[in-house]
Amino acid sequence: MEKLHAVILAAGEGKRMRSAVPKVLHPICGRPMLSYILNSAAAVAVDPIIVIGREAPLVREKIGSRWKYALQEEQLGTGHALMQALPQLPEEGRVLVLCGDTPLLQKEHLEQLARDHSDNAATVMTAELANPTGYGRVIRDRDGFVCRIVEESDASSAEKEVREINSGTYCFEISALRKFLPHLSPDNIQQEYYLTDILFLMREQGYPVGACLVDSWRAVLGINDRCQLAAAAQVIRERINCSLMRQGVTLIDPATTYIDYDVKIGPDTVVLPQSLLEGATSIGSGCRIGPGAQVINAQLHDGVTVRQSVVEESILERGAAVGPFANIRPGCRIGPGAKVGTFVEVKNSAIGASSKLAHLAYAGDTDIESGVNLGAGVIIVNFDGRKKHRTLIREGAFIGCNSNLISPLEIGEGAFIAAGTTVTGDVPAGALAIARTAQKNCEGLSRRLLLKSAGQEKDDIEEKE
Ligand code: UD1
Ligand code: CA
Repeated sequence: MEKLHAVILAAGEGKRMRSAVPKVLHPICGRPMLSYILNSAAAVAVDPIIVIGREAPLVREKIGSRWKYALQEEQLGTGHALMQALPQLPEEGRVLVLCGDTPLLQKEHLEQLARDHSDNAATVMTAELANPTGYGRVIRDRDGFVCRIVEESDASSAEKEVREINSGTYCFEISALRKFLPHLSPDNIQQEYYLTDILFLMREQGYPVGACLVDSWRAVLGINDRCQLAAAAQVIRERINCSLMRQGVTLIDPATTYIDYDVKIGPDTVVLPQSLLEGATSIGSGCRIGPGAQVINAQLHDGVTVRQSVVEESILERGAAVGPFANIRPGCRIGPGAKVGTFVEVKNSAIGASSKLAHLAYAGDTDIESGVNLGAGVIIVNFDGRKKHRTLIREGAFIGCNSNLISPLEIGEGAFIAAGTTVTGDVPAGALAIARTAQKNCEGLSRRLLLKSAGQEKDDIEEKE
């Protein structure tokens, strides 16, 4: 079969998004909107050309240099945008023309369009929508042939009743495009060069124009505003979730499970409700994630548990357990079988195999070897107000509750830090470190103190009266 070419129109202002970010870069499930249609195009066509305009350098940077680009300096409409790509297309052949804001179209839809195109000069992909508001309407003649497309803003009230819409996706003979594109005029309400007008011009000259009707809004949805963005994201989320479930992942409630496009999850992992798995996260098999977990660009090996916690840019090794209510900040490596428990924050630290930070602790810039226990309330004091310092805790050390470890420090193998100690210097292997004032018991003082404070309160009340 002859090669299919593709052009993606992505230069528009995207005014209806009311955003500082160009529309086609708005993320859906962790990827820019534009990357979805680009993927579908690249699956059926050679070297897709992307027409960029608004913030062109940024779009090019985010989408990558492996694609061809054409620049539309002024946004004068979809017809004008396509003109900018013409010089990069061959003289003849077929080209798919796609919009950057229709992320739901998949490879199969484009294949269907190319098949239905057959010997036409132009074929437009259409759909019948219950609510066609905002789309161009497809006007057919008595014999059912497409004769033109009218934009909503130019449509009469009778035309607005038409429910068949233009998806903004077409297949063209390149030779016919070259002939008719120069004849478009901006003679319409929006004073733009509408690509849609080309169908009318072709029909007028007796060129065959066809339609490829697809059966669902879930294919053709065009994103002009943030309501449509949310609707598209929901469809894509459903696709991602279904695909993962078919690969053996259990999602207890797919409707409240938010997994980005590039996330990988192994079989027999269970994801509980209200969990967000983002970016380039990869999760092994037999893990239990959530409820309420947020995992961002992290690698979780097999058998890991993460409950109601945040894990970002870190590695959790086999069988590690995190949460509930833990915060694993970037740069951590949590070793096999290690535990980072309730209300524990860890940053830029390595935690060795089977070490435990079970509750209410902070470890920043710390290397903890295996078999270490950090009691409740232990704080690694890694910041002196100007600089961060590292702490090393050797194998099997025991750090008693409510100790402060003032970095830089090294706690030797098997050392024991008594509860409440503020450690200001290195502790040798096997040593006990204790730094707290000795306890004094004053016999009978308790009652006197209690009576005194009760008397004080009574005096206070009398004074106020
Ligand atoms: C367009 C169609 C409409 C169709 C709808 C489908 C026209 C005139 N209208 O309307 O019939 O129902 O898509 O979603 O074609 N773009 C450029 N340069 C421009 C203008 C737009 O590159 O100067 C790009 C945009 O980035 C966008 C695409 O073309 O990706 C469509 O533009 P948009 O303004 O969203 O067109 P609609 O009003 O949705
Ligand atoms: Ca649109």
